[in-house]
Amino acid sequence: MLVAATTSPAVGSFHLSRSPSSRGMPRVTMAVRSNVVSVGSILTKLQQDCATPLPVIRHVADAMTVDMRAGLAVDGGSDLKMILSYVDSLPSGNEKGLFYALDLGGTNLRALRVQLGGKEERVIATEFEQLSIPQELMFGTSEELFDFIASTLAGFAEKEGEKFHLPRGRQREIGFTFSFPVKQTSIDSGILMKWTKGFSVSGTAGRDVVACLNEAMERQGLDMRVSALVNDTVGTLAGARYWDDDVMVAVILGTGTNACYVERTDSIPKLQGSKSSSGRTIINTEWGAFSNGIPLTVFDRDMDAASINPGEQIFEKTISGMYLGEIARRALLTMAEEGSLFGMSVPKKLSTPFALRTPDICAMQLDISDDLQAVGSILHNVAGVESSLSARRTVLGVCDAIVKRGGRLAGAGIVGILQKMEEDSKGVIFNKRTVVAMDGGLYEHYPQYRRYLQDAVNELLGLEISKNIVIEHSKDGSGIGAALLAATNSKYDHDF
Ligand code: BGC
Repeated sequence: MLVAATTSPAVGSFHLSRSPSSRGMPRVTMAVRSNVVSVGSILTKLQQDCATPLPVIRHVADAMTVDMRAGLAVDGGSDLKMILSYVDSLPSGNEKGLFYALDLGGTNLRALRVQLGGKEERVIATEFEQLSIPQELMFGTSEELFDFIASTLAGFAEKEGEKFHLPRGRQREIGFTFSFPVKQTSIDSGILMKWTKGFSVSGTAGRDVVACLNEAMERQGLDMRVSALVNDTVGTLAGARYWDDDVMVAVILGTGTNACYVERTDSIPKLQGSKSSSGRTIINTEWGAFSNGIPLTVFDRDMDAASINPGEQIFEKTISGMYLGEIARRALLTMAEEGSLFGMSVPKKLSTPFALRTPDICAMQLDISDDLQAVGSILHNVAGVESSLSARRTVLGVCDAIVKRGGRLAGAGIVGILQKMEEDSKGVIFNKRTVVAMDGGLYEHYPQYRRYLQDAVNELLGLEISKNIVIEHSKDGSGIGAALLAATNSKYDHDF
Protein backbone atom coordinates (compact mmCIF):
# COMPACT_ATOMS: atom_id res chain seq x y z
CA MET A 1 0.00 0.00 0.00
CA LEU A 2 1.30 3.41 -0.93
CA VAL A 3 0.44 6.39 1.22
CA ALA A 4 1.12 10.09 1.16
CA ALA A 5 4.67 11.33 1.43
CA THR A 6 5.86 12.32 4.88
CA THR A 7 7.76 15.51 5.49
CA SER A 8 11.26 14.86 6.68
CA PRO A 9 13.21 17.01 9.06
CA ALA A 10 16.20 18.97 7.88
CA VAL A 11 19.23 16.90 7.08
CA GLY A 12 21.46 16.51 10.12
CA SER A 13 18.82 17.23 12.73
CA PHE A 14 17.43 14.43 14.82
CA HIS A 15 13.72 14.23 14.97
CA LEU A 16 11.20 11.62 15.91
CA SER A 17 7.64 11.82 14.76
CA ARG A 18 5.38 12.31 17.74
CA SER A 19 2.22 11.52 15.90
CA PRO A 20 -0.24 9.35 17.85
CA SER A 21 0.93 6.47 15.71
CA SER A 22 4.34 6.54 17.40
CA ARG A 23 2.63 5.75 20.69
CA GLY A 24 2.01 2.14 19.97
CA MET A 25 -0.26 2.00 16.95
CA PRO A 26 1.15 0.59 13.75
CA ARG A 27 2.34 3.30 11.42
CA VAL A 28 1.99 3.65 7.70
CA THR A 29 3.12 0.69 5.69
CA MET A 30 5.26 2.60 3.28
CA ALA A 31 6.50 6.13 3.04
CA VAL A 32 8.13 8.07 0.25
CA ARG A 33 10.33 10.93 1.30
CA SER A 34 11.92 13.85 -0.41
CA ASN A 35 15.00 14.39 1.67
CA VAL A 36 16.54 12.00 4.09
CA VAL A 37 18.35 12.28 7.43
CA SER A 38 21.56 10.33 7.41
CA VAL A 39 21.27 7.03 9.23
CA GLY A 40 24.76 7.66 10.60
CA SER A 41 23.65 10.82 12.36
CA ILE A 42 20.70 9.05 13.95
CA LEU A 43 23.00 6.28 15.16
CA THR A 44 25.52 8.77 16.52
CA LYS A 45 22.80 10.64 18.40
CA LEU A 46 21.47 7.35 19.81
CA GLN A 47 24.95 6.34 20.95
CA GLN A 48 25.49 9.72 22.60
CA ASP A 49 22.14 9.66 24.39
CA CYS A 50 22.72 6.08 25.56
CA ALA A 51 26.30 6.56 26.63
CA THR A 52 27.30 5.30 30.07
CA PRO A 53 30.87 6.46 30.68
CA LEU A 54 32.33 6.00 34.15
CA PRO A 55 30.93 9.26 35.64
CA VAL A 56 27.41 8.27 34.57
CA ILE A 57 27.53 4.77 36.07
CA ARG A 58 29.25 6.15 39.18
CA HIS A 59 26.37 8.59 39.58
CA VAL A 60 23.82 5.78 39.11
CA ALA A 61 25.55 3.56 41.69
CA ASP A 62 25.72 6.41 44.22
CA ALA A 63 22.12 7.45 43.60
CA MET A 64 21.02 3.84 44.07
CA THR A 65 22.75 3.82 47.48
CA VAL A 66 21.09 7.12 48.46
CA ASP A 67 17.66 5.97 47.27
CA MET A 68 18.02 2.71 49.19
CA ARG A 69 18.63 4.61 52.43
CA ALA A 70 15.68 6.93 51.78
CA GLY A 71 13.41 3.94 51.08
CA LEU A 72 14.57 2.19 54.27
CA ALA A 73 13.92 5.32 56.34
CA VAL A 74 10.25 5.63 55.54
CA ASP A 75 7.70 4.02 53.23
CA GLY A 76 7.48 6.18 50.12
CA GLY A 77 10.84 7.81 50.93
CA SER A 78 12.22 7.18 47.43
CA ASP A 79 11.57 5.46 44.11
CA LEU A 80 12.85 2.30 45.75
CA LYS A 81 10.17 0.67 47.87
CA MET A 82 12.65 -1.37 49.91
CA ILE A 83 10.00 -3.92 50.84
CA LEU A 84 10.36 -6.03 53.96
CA SER A 85 10.21 -9.68 52.91
CA TYR A 86 9.55 -11.14 56.38
CA VAL A 87 12.28 -13.63 55.54
CA ASP A 88 14.46 -13.32 58.61
CA SER A 89 16.19 -16.65 58.45
CA LEU A 90 17.48 -18.30 55.36
CA PRO A 91 17.37 -22.04 54.78
CA SER A 92 19.86 -23.89 56.99
CA GLY A 93 20.18 -27.06 54.95
CA ASN A 94 18.26 -29.07 57.55
CA GLU A 95 14.95 -28.75 55.71
CA LYS A 96 13.27 -32.08 55.04
CA GLY A 97 10.11 -33.24 53.34
CA LEU A 98 7.95 -32.56 50.30
CA PHE A 99 7.31 -28.95 49.32
CA TYR A 100 5.78 -27.24 46.34
CA ALA A 101 6.65 -23.97 44.65
CA LEU A 102 4.56 -21.92 42.30
CA ASP A 103 6.19 -19.18 40.30
CA LEU A 104 4.29 -16.44 38.51
CA GLY A 105 6.95 -14.30 36.93
CA GLY A 106 6.80 -12.63 33.55
CA THR A 107 5.99 -14.83 30.62
CA ASN A 108 5.73 -18.19 32.35
CA LEU A 109 3.96 -19.96 35.14
CA ARG A 110 6.01 -22.67 36.73
CA ALA A 111 5.01 -25.32 39.26
CA LEU A 112 7.63 -27.35 41.02
CA ARG A 113 7.89 -29.96 43.75
CA VAL A 114 10.95 -30.96 45.66
CA GLN A 115 11.74 -33.66 48.16
CA LEU A 116 14.27 -32.28 50.61
CA GLY A 117 16.52 -34.61 52.54
CA GLY A 118 18.27 -32.39 55.08
CA LYS A 119 22.02 -31.72 55.39
CA GLU A 120 23.09 -35.12 54.09
CA GLU A 121 20.84 -35.68 51.14
CA ARG A 122 19.85 -32.10 50.28
CA VAL A 123 17.63 -32.18 47.17
CA ILE A 124 16.49 -35.79 46.73
CA ALA A 125 14.10 -35.28 43.85
CA THR A 126 12.54 -32.46 41.95
CA GLU A 127 10.00 -32.13 39.18
CA PHE A 128 8.51 -29.14 37.46
CA GLU A 129 6.04 -28.07 34.83
CA GLN A 130 6.11 -24.79 32.94
CA LEU A 131 3.45 -23.10 30.87
CA SER A 132 3.49 -19.78 29.12
CA ILE A 133 0.82 -17.44 30.37
CA PRO A 134 -1.86 -16.94 27.73
CA GLN A 135 -1.73 -13.35 26.53
CA GLU A 136 -5.41 -12.72 27.24
CA LEU A 137 -4.95 -13.58 30.92
CA MET A 138 -2.50 -10.69 31.28
CA PHE A 139 -5.37 -8.34 30.50
CA GLY A 140 -8.26 -10.28 32.04
CA THR A 141 -9.72 -10.44 35.51
CA SER A 142 -8.04 -11.49 38.70
CA GLU A 143 -10.32 -14.51 39.02
CA GLU A 144 -9.40 -15.75 35.54
CA LEU A 145 -5.68 -15.45 36.21
CA PHE A 146 -5.79 -17.14 39.62
CA ASP A 147 -8.11 -19.89 38.32
CA PHE A 148 -5.50 -20.60 35.66
CA ILE A 149 -2.76 -20.74 38.31
CA ALA A 150 -4.77 -22.99 40.63
CA SER A 151 -5.83 -25.37 37.88
CA THR A 152 -2.23 -25.66 36.64
CA LEU A 153 -1.15 -26.45 40.18
CA ALA A 154 -3.98 -28.98 40.62
CA GLY A 155 -3.02 -30.76 37.39
CA PHE A 156 0.62 -30.84 38.45
CA ALA A 157 -0.13 -32.07 41.99
CA GLU A 158 -2.16 -34.95 40.58
CA LYS A 159 0.92 -36.27 38.82
CA GLU A 160 2.97 -36.55 42.00
CA GLY A 161 5.03 -39.72 41.67
CA GLU A 162 6.54 -42.22 44.08
CA LYS A 163 9.74 -40.27 44.68
CA PHE A 164 7.74 -37.79 46.75
CA HIS A 165 6.42 -38.47 50.23
CA LEU A 166 4.07 -36.48 52.42
CA PRO A 167 3.57 -37.74 55.96
CA ARG A 168 -0.04 -38.74 56.63
CA GLY A 169 -2.43 -36.07 57.75
CA ARG A 170 -0.39 -33.16 56.42
CA GLN A 171 -1.36 -30.52 53.92
CA ARG A 172 0.95 -29.91 50.99
CA GLU A 173 2.70 -26.59 51.51
CA ILE A 174 3.63 -24.11 48.81
CA GLY A 175 6.21 -21.37 48.44
CA PHE A 176 4.44 -18.89 46.19
CA THR A 177 6.80 -16.77 44.13
CA PHE A 178 4.85 -13.79 42.90
CA SER A 179 7.18 -11.53 40.98
CA PHE A 180 5.47 -8.16 41.14
CA PRO A 181 5.65 -5.35 43.69
CA VAL A 182 3.85 -6.72 46.75
CA LYS A 183 3.69 -5.03 50.11
CA GLN A 184 4.24 -8.00 52.38
CA THR A 185 2.09 -8.05 55.48
CA SER A 186 3.60 -11.29 56.81
CA ILE A 187 5.61 -14.18 55.42
CA ASP A 188 2.45 -15.64 53.93
CA SER A 189 0.42 -12.61 52.88
CA GLY A 190 0.94 -9.45 50.86
CA ILE A 191 -0.93 -6.82 48.91
CA LEU A 192 -0.23 -6.27 45.21
CA MET A 193 0.73 -2.62 44.80
CA LYS A 194 0.69 -2.53 41.01
CA TRP A 195 1.31 -4.76 38.04
CA THR A 196 4.52 -4.49 35.99
CA LYS A 197 5.94 -6.24 32.89
CA GLY A 198 2.91 -5.49 30.74
CA PHE A 199 0.34 -7.16 33.03
CA SER A 200 -2.89 -5.28 33.46
CA VAL A 201 -5.19 -7.66 35.30
CA SER A 202 -8.23 -6.04 36.87
CA GLY A 203 -9.16 -6.58 40.48
CA THR A 204 -5.83 -7.75 41.94
CA ALA A 205 -4.09 -4.47 42.87
CA GLY A 206 -4.86 -3.65 46.50
CA ARG A 207 -5.66 -7.30 47.32
CA ASP A 208 -3.78 -10.00 49.21
CA VAL A 209 -2.49 -12.26 46.44
CA VAL A 210 -2.38 -15.28 48.76
CA ALA A 211 -6.09 -14.80 49.49
CA CYS A 212 -6.67 -14.63 45.71
CA LEU A 213 -4.81 -17.93 45.27
CA ASN A 214 -6.57 -19.58 48.24
CA GLU A 215 -9.97 -18.65 46.83
CA ALA A 216 -9.00 -20.06 43.43
CA MET A 217 -7.65 -23.26 45.03
CA GLU A 218 -10.95 -23.61 46.88
CA ARG A 219 -12.84 -23.23 43.62
CA GLN A 220 -10.65 -26.06 42.27
CA GLY A 221 -11.20 -28.18 45.40
CA LEU A 222 -7.43 -28.17 45.92
CA ASP A 223 -6.30 -28.64 49.52
CA MET A 224 -2.91 -26.95 49.69
CA ARG A 225 -1.55 -24.15 51.83
CA VAL A 226 0.74 -21.21 50.98
CA SER A 227 3.31 -21.07 53.77
CA ALA A 228 5.58 -18.46 52.17
CA LEU A 229 4.91 -15.66 49.71
CA VAL A 230 8.13 -14.47 48.12
CA ASN A 231 9.42 -12.27 45.36
CA ASP A 232 11.53 -14.10 42.73
CA THR A 233 14.66 -12.26 43.90
CA VAL A 234 14.06 -13.51 47.45
CA GLY A 235 13.51 -17.06 46.17
CA THR A 236 16.77 -16.79 44.22
CA LEU A 237 18.68 -15.54 47.25
CA ALA A 238 17.31 -18.34 49.42
CA GLY A 239 18.00 -20.97 46.76
CA ALA A 240 21.56 -19.80 46.13
CA ARG A 241 22.32 -19.40 49.84
CA TYR A 242 21.33 -23.04 50.39
CA TRP A 243 24.54 -23.99 48.58
CA ASP A 244 26.78 -21.03 49.33
CA ASP A 245 26.97 -19.02 52.57
CA ASP A 246 28.59 -16.05 50.84
CA VAL A 247 25.48 -15.14 48.83
CA MET A 248 24.32 -11.71 49.99
CA VAL A 249 22.51 -10.25 46.98
CA ALA A 250 20.20 -11.70 44.31
CA VAL A 251 19.33 -10.05 41.04
CA ILE A 252 16.79 -10.99 38.39
CA LEU A 253 17.44 -9.89 34.83
CA GLY A 254 14.70 -11.41 32.74
CA THR A 255 11.46 -10.02 31.37
CA GLY A 256 11.59 -7.61 34.31
CA THR A 257 14.32 -6.80 36.77
CA ASN A 258 14.78 -6.51 40.51
CA ALA A 259 17.28 -7.08 43.31
CA CYS A 260 17.15 -8.09 46.96
CA TYR A 261 19.85 -8.34 49.59
CA VAL A 262 20.52 -9.26 53.19
CA GLU A 263 20.09 -6.19 55.40
CA ARG A 264 20.82 -5.59 59.08
CA THR A 265 17.58 -4.86 60.92
CA ASP A 266 19.25 -1.99 62.79
CA SER A 267 19.78 -0.29 59.41
CA ILE A 268 16.04 -0.18 58.70
CA PRO A 269 14.56 2.83 60.51
CA LYS A 270 11.06 2.12 59.17
CA LEU A 271 11.06 -1.31 60.80
CA GLN A 272 10.32 0.20 64.23
CA GLY A 273 10.24 -2.40 66.94
CA SER A 274 9.60 -5.67 65.16
CA LYS A 275 13.23 -6.81 64.95
CA SER A 276 14.05 -10.31 63.78
CA SER A 277 15.88 -12.72 66.05
CA SER A 278 18.70 -13.12 63.53
CA GLY A 279 19.24 -9.34 63.35
CA ARG A 280 19.04 -9.70 59.57
CA THR A 281 16.26 -9.67 57.04
CA ILE A 282 15.94 -9.70 53.27
CA ILE A 283 14.90 -6.47 51.61
CA ASN A 284 13.24 -6.55 48.22
CA THR A 285 14.42 -3.28 46.68
CA GLU A 286 12.03 -3.25 43.65
CA TRP A 287 14.85 -1.46 41.87
CA GLY A 288 12.94 -1.52 38.57
CA ALA A 289 11.30 1.72 39.75
CA PHE A 290 14.66 3.50 40.13
CA SER A 291 15.06 6.48 37.81
CA ASN A 292 17.81 8.80 39.03
CA GLY A 293 20.36 9.84 36.40
CA ILE A 294 19.50 7.22 33.78
CA PRO A 295 20.50 8.35 30.30
CA LEU A 296 17.39 8.20 28.12
CA THR A 297 16.84 8.51 24.40
CA VAL A 298 13.83 9.75 22.51
CA PHE A 299 13.00 6.10 21.81
CA ASP A 300 12.84 5.34 25.54
CA ARG A 301 10.59 8.30 26.16
CA ASP A 302 8.23 7.33 23.37
CA MET A 303 8.15 3.69 24.48
CA ASP A 304 7.43 4.79 28.03
CA ALA A 305 4.64 7.10 26.91
CA ALA A 306 3.05 4.26 24.94
CA SER A 307 3.34 1.78 27.82
CA ILE A 308 0.59 0.80 30.22
CA ASN A 309 2.58 2.36 33.07
CA PRO A 310 4.04 5.65 31.76
CA GLY A 311 6.58 7.30 34.01
CA GLU A 312 7.03 4.10 36.04
CA GLN A 313 9.68 1.36 36.12
CA ILE A 314 12.23 3.48 34.24
CA PHE A 315 15.27 1.42 35.30
CA GLU A 316 13.38 -1.72 34.28
CA LYS A 317 12.50 -0.17 30.93
CA THR A 318 16.15 0.55 30.16
CA ILE A 319 17.77 -2.68 31.37
CA SER A 320 15.33 -5.61 31.21
CA GLY A 321 14.45 -8.16 28.57
CA MET A 322 10.92 -7.05 27.92
CA TYR A 323 12.09 -3.72 26.54
CA LEU A 324 15.54 -3.90 24.89
CA GLY A 325 14.23 -5.27 21.60
CA GLU A 326 11.43 -2.74 21.54
CA ILE A 327 13.78 0.21 22.04
CA ALA A 328 15.91 -1.11 19.17
CA ARG A 329 12.81 -1.53 16.98
CA ARG A 330 11.80 2.07 17.59
CA ALA A 331 15.27 3.29 16.65
CA LEU A 332 15.33 1.15 13.50
CA LEU A 333 11.86 2.31 12.51
CA THR A 334 12.98 5.92 12.73
CA MET A 335 16.07 5.08 10.69
CA ALA A 336 13.87 3.39 8.09
CA GLU A 337 11.37 6.25 7.99
CA GLU A 338 13.76 9.14 8.13
CA GLY A 339 16.97 7.69 6.76
CA SER A 340 15.80 4.96 4.35
CA LEU A 341 17.77 2.34 6.24
CA PHE A 342 16.05 -0.45 4.34
CA GLY A 343 15.48 1.37 1.06
CA MET A 344 12.61 3.56 0.07
CA SER A 345 9.84 1.63 1.77
CA VAL A 346 9.16 1.30 5.46
CA PRO A 347 8.39 -2.32 6.25
CA LYS A 348 5.02 -2.82 7.90
CA LYS A 349 6.24 -5.49 10.29
CA LEU A 350 8.81 -3.08 11.70
CA SER A 351 5.96 -0.78 12.68
CA THR A 352 4.44 -3.37 14.99
CA PRO A 353 5.22 -2.71 18.66
CA PHE A 354 7.34 -5.43 20.26
CA ALA A 355 7.86 -7.19 16.89
CA LEU A 356 11.60 -7.23 17.54
CA ARG A 357 12.26 -9.17 20.71
CA THR A 358 15.32 -9.14 22.91
CA PRO A 359 16.24 -12.73 21.90
CA ASP A 360 16.29 -11.48 18.28
CA ILE A 361 18.76 -8.71 18.99
CA CYS A 362 20.84 -11.15 21.02
CA ALA A 363 20.90 -13.62 18.12
CA MET A 364 21.93 -10.81 15.77
CA GLN A 365 24.76 -9.76 18.06
CA LEU A 366 26.03 -13.32 18.11
CA ASP A 367 26.50 -13.29 14.32
CA ILE A 368 30.20 -13.13 13.57
CA SER A 369 30.00 -14.03 9.87
CA ASP A 370 31.57 -11.63 7.36
CA ASP A 371 28.31 -10.91 5.57
CA LEU A 372 26.22 -10.91 8.75
CA GLN A 373 23.96 -13.53 7.30
CA ALA A 374 22.08 -14.27 10.54
CA VAL A 375 21.42 -10.55 11.01
CA GLY A 376 20.01 -10.46 7.48
CA SER A 377 17.71 -13.42 7.97
CA ILE A 378 16.44 -12.23 11.36
CA LEU A 379 15.69 -8.83 9.85
CA HIS A 380 13.91 -10.57 7.03
CA ASN A 381 11.83 -12.83 9.28
CA VAL A 382 11.05 -10.27 11.96
CA ALA A 383 10.85 -7.04 10.02
CA GLY A 384 10.22 -8.27 6.51
CA VAL A 385 13.19 -6.41 5.01
CA GLU A 386 16.03 -7.14 2.67
CA SER A 387 19.12 -5.52 4.10
CA SER A 388 22.45 -4.47 2.68
CA LEU A 389 25.63 -5.26 4.59
CA SER A 390 25.94 -1.65 5.65
CA ALA A 391 22.34 -1.64 6.96
CA ARG A 392 23.11 -4.79 8.94
CA ARG A 393 26.14 -3.11 10.48
CA THR A 394 23.99 -0.16 11.46
CA VAL A 395 21.43 -2.50 13.02
CA LEU A 396 24.20 -4.06 15.10
CA GLY A 397 25.33 -0.59 16.14
CA VAL A 398 21.83 0.15 17.42
CA CYS A 399 21.57 -3.16 19.30
CA ASP A 400 24.99 -2.69 20.83
CA ALA A 401 24.28 0.84 22.09
CA ILE A 402 21.09 -0.29 23.82
CA VAL A 403 22.48 -3.51 25.24
CA LYS A 404 25.65 -1.80 26.42
CA ARG A 405 23.65 0.78 28.34
CA GLY A 406 21.43 -1.98 29.80
CA GLY A 407 24.29 -4.15 30.99
CA ARG A 408 26.34 -1.28 32.36
CA LEU A 409 23.41 0.23 34.25
CA ALA A 410 22.59 -3.17 35.74
CA GLY A 411 26.22 -3.42 36.88
CA ALA A 412 26.02 0.05 38.40
CA GLY A 413 22.86 -0.95 40.27
CA ILE A 414 24.63 -3.98 41.75
CA VAL A 415 27.54 -1.81 42.86
CA GLY A 416 25.03 0.63 44.43
CA ILE A 417 23.66 -2.18 46.60
CA LEU A 418 27.08 -3.57 47.50
CA GLN A 419 28.48 -0.18 48.48
CA LYS A 420 25.44 0.49 50.69
CA MET A 421 26.08 -2.81 52.49
CA GLU A 422 29.79 -2.07 52.75
CA GLU A 423 29.21 1.41 54.20
CA ASP A 424 27.16 -0.12 57.02
CA SER A 425 29.52 -2.98 57.82
CA LYS A 426 33.02 -1.97 56.90
CA GLY A 427 35.01 -4.72 55.26
CA VAL A 428 32.34 -7.36 55.43
CA ILE A 429 31.40 -7.06 51.79
CA PHE A 430 34.44 -5.81 49.88
CA ASN A 431 37.23 -7.49 51.84
CA LYS A 432 35.93 -11.01 51.55
CA ARG A 433 34.23 -13.20 48.97
CA THR A 434 30.70 -11.90 48.38
CA VAL A 435 28.37 -13.60 45.93
CA VAL A 436 25.68 -11.93 43.85
CA ALA A 437 23.27 -14.63 42.64
CA MET A 438 21.85 -13.84 39.23
CA ASP A 439 18.90 -15.34 37.41
CA GLY A 440 16.63 -14.53 34.49
CA GLY A 441 16.71 -15.26 30.78
CA LEU A 442 18.38 -11.99 29.81
CA TYR A 443 21.36 -12.66 32.05
CA GLU A 444 21.47 -16.34 31.17
CA HIS A 445 21.29 -16.05 27.41
CA TYR A 446 22.89 -12.73 26.47
CA PRO A 447 26.71 -12.95 26.62
CA GLN A 448 27.34 -9.33 25.53
CA TYR A 449 24.97 -8.05 28.17
CA ARG A 450 26.74 -10.12 30.84
CA ARG A 451 30.10 -8.80 29.67
CA TYR A 452 28.98 -5.17 29.80
CA LEU A 453 27.55 -5.73 33.27
CA GLN A 454 30.78 -7.24 34.55
CA ASP A 455 32.87 -4.46 32.91
CA ALA A 456 30.86 -1.81 34.74
CA VAL A 457 31.30 -3.60 38.07
CA ASN A 458 35.05 -3.87 37.49
CA GLU A 459 35.36 -0.23 36.45
CA LEU A 460 33.45 0.97 39.48
CA LEU A 461 35.05 -1.23 42.09
CA GLY A 462 38.57 -1.49 40.71
CA LEU A 463 40.43 -4.71 40.16
CA GLU A 464 41.27 -5.57 43.77
CA ILE A 465 37.75 -5.33 45.15
CA SER A 466 36.01 -6.77 42.13
CA LYS A 467 38.07 -9.95 42.57
CA ASN A 468 36.09 -10.53 45.77
CA ILE A 469 32.71 -9.94 44.15
CA VAL A 470 31.49 -13.09 42.48
CA ILE A 471 28.59 -12.58 40.11
CA GLU A 472 27.17 -16.02 39.59
CA HIS A 473 24.32 -17.47 37.60
CA SER A 474 22.02 -19.40 39.87
CA LYS A 475 19.77 -21.33 37.53
CA ASP A 476 16.26 -21.78 38.81
CA GLY A 477 17.39 -20.98 42.30
CA SER A 478 14.12 -19.15 42.67
CA GLY A 479 11.88 -22.25 42.46
CA ILE A 480 13.88 -24.36 44.90
CA GLY A 481 14.39 -21.26 47.05
CA ALA A 482 10.64 -20.71 47.37
CA ALA A 483 10.15 -24.39 48.27
CA LEU A 484 12.93 -24.06 50.88
CA LEU A 485 11.24 -21.00 52.35
CA ALA A 486 7.96 -22.93 52.42
CA ALA A 487 9.86 -25.53 54.47
CA THR A 488 11.45 -22.95 56.78
CA ASN A 489 8.02 -21.46 57.42
CA SER A 490 6.13 -24.75 57.55
CA LYS A 491 3.43 -25.04 60.17
CA TYR A 492 4.68 -28.54 60.90
CA ASP A 493 7.60 -29.76 62.89
CA HIS A 494 10.76 -29.92 60.74
CA ASP A 495 12.15 -33.11 62.20
CA PHE A 496 10.48 -35.91 60.43
C1 BGC B 1 8.75 -6.77 39.47
C2 BGC B 1 9.57 -7.43 40.54
C3 BGC B 1 10.24 -8.69 40.01
C4 BGC B 1 11.01 -8.36 38.75
C5 BGC B 1 11.71 -9.57 38.16
C6 BGC B 1 9.57 -6.57 38.21
O1 BGC B 1 8.75 -6.11 37.18
O2 BGC B 1 8.25 -5.52 39.89
O3 BGC B 1 8.79 -7.74 41.67
O4 BGC B 1 11.09 -9.19 41.00
O5 BGC B 1 10.15 -7.81 37.79
O6 BGC B 1 10.82 -10.58 37.84
